[in-house]
Amino acid sequence: MPEPHLPLPLSLQKRLDKVQLEGTFRSLPKPFTGVDFTSNDYLGLAHDGKNIKFTSSLEGSMGSRLLQGNLPQILDLEKEAALLFQSEATLWFSSGYQANLAVMSSIPQKGDIILFDQECHASLKDGMRLSLAHKFGYKHLDYFQLEKKLKLNRIKFPNAQLYVVSESLFSMSGKWSDPNILYALCEQNGAYLIYDEAHSTGVVGNNGGGWFHYHLPNKTALSITYTLGKAPGFAGAFVAGSQRLINYLINFARPFIYTTAPPNLMVEATRWVIHKMAMAEDRRLELQEKLAFFYAQFGKTVSAPISPIIPIPITGISECKEVAQQLQNQGFNVKAILPPTVLPGTERLRINITALHTYEELRNLAKALKPWWS
Ligand SMILES: Cc1ncc(COP(=O)(O)O)c(C=O)c1O
Repeated sequence: MPEPHLPLPLSLQKRLDKVQLEGTFRSLPKPFTGVDFTSNDYLGLAHDGKNIKFTSSLEGSMGSRLLQGNLPQILDLEKEAALLFQSEATLWFSSGYQANLAVMSSIPQKGDIILFDQECHASLKDGMRLSLAHKFGYKHLDYFQLEKKLKLNRIKFPNAQLYVVSESLFSMSGKWSDPNILYALCEQNGAYLIYDEAHSTGVVGNNGGGWFHYHLPNKTALSITYTLGKAPGFAGAFVAGSQRLINYLINFARPFIYTTAPPNLMVEATRWVIHKMAMAEDRRLELQEKLAFFYAQFGKTVSAPISPIIPIPITGISECKEVAQQLQNQGFNVKAILPPTVLPGTERLRINITALHTYEELRNLAKALKPWWS
C-alpha cells in the first residue's frame, strides 16, 4: 500500500472550502436516466457512428506534427475540412479548447489590442491570458461599444494591430452574433476578426459550414474555429484561415507545436464525422422545426435559424439549483449554470434542444418550465 496522501496545501483547501460554502462546488455527475437537455449534440449525430467499422488499425502517430506525426491522412483531412469550411486551409486540433488557446495565445502580439465580447468562452479568454497584447472586453453583443473602443484604441495606439474576438452562437446566452456588423467594423477600423463557430458548426450554413459564411459566403475572417464536439457529435476542431495563417500557427502556436499528432484511427473517424455532418440537412431542418415547436408552447414565434441553446434566467445560486433539482426530479436533465461560468446574479438554466427530442418530450418540458419562464 502506498503511504496516505498528504493533506492539500492550505491555499488549495481554502479555495475548495470557499466554493463549497458558496454552493458552487463542482462534482462529476452520475449518469442521468431521464430526458437529457444538457448535451450539445444538437443534430443527434453522436451515436450515428456506433456500428461503423473503421479500416485504420490502432497505431500511434509517434510524435508531434513537426516530428514523426505528420501523417499524410491528416493533410488530406485538413484539405477536406478547408473545402467544407470555405477557407484556403485548415489546421486540426484535438479540441476546440486547444484550438482557441493556440489562436489567442499566438496571434495578438505584445502591444496589440484585443477587443472581445465579454461572454466569450473560457478557451478564448485563457488563450488571451497567455498573450502579451492588451485586452479589453465589450458588453455582450454591444456593437456600439465595440465601435467606440475600436476608434478610441486606434487613436490611442496608432501602431497597434487591433483584433476583434467573438463567438458565432454564444454558449451561455444562446444568442447569435452578427457577422455582417463584425466584418464591417473590422474593415472600417483596420481590425482582424477572430471567430469561434463552436456552437454553430453543423447547425447552420451550407452543409453545416457555420454562421460566418451563411451571412458572408464570399468573405473571410482572419481565423475561424470550427469544433466537432458539439453538433458533429464527436471531438476535435479545425482552425480555418489563409495558408499564411496556418503557416504562422504551425510556427508559433505552442498548443499546436508541443503535442502529439492524432492517430490514424482518429483521423479516419474525423473524416467520417465531417461527411456525416455535411450531409445532415434533414437533421438541421428537424432541429429548427422542433425549436419552433418548443417556442410555440409559450406562444412565441421566433425567426429561423433558431438557436438550440435556451437560457432560462433564475437569479441566485441556491434558487437556480433548486429549480434544476425540481426539473430533474420530474425526469428532465437540466443543469443550473452558476458562477464562475456566468457572472454572479446571472445564474440560469441552460436548455439545449436537439433534433432527437420528441415533440412529447418538448411539450412536457415546456409545461414543467412554465412556472419559471413565460
Ligand atoms: C464557444 C466555445 N468555444 C470552444 C469550446 C471548446 O470546444 P471543445 O469542447 O471542443 O474543447 C467550447 C466548449 O464548450 C465553447 O462553448
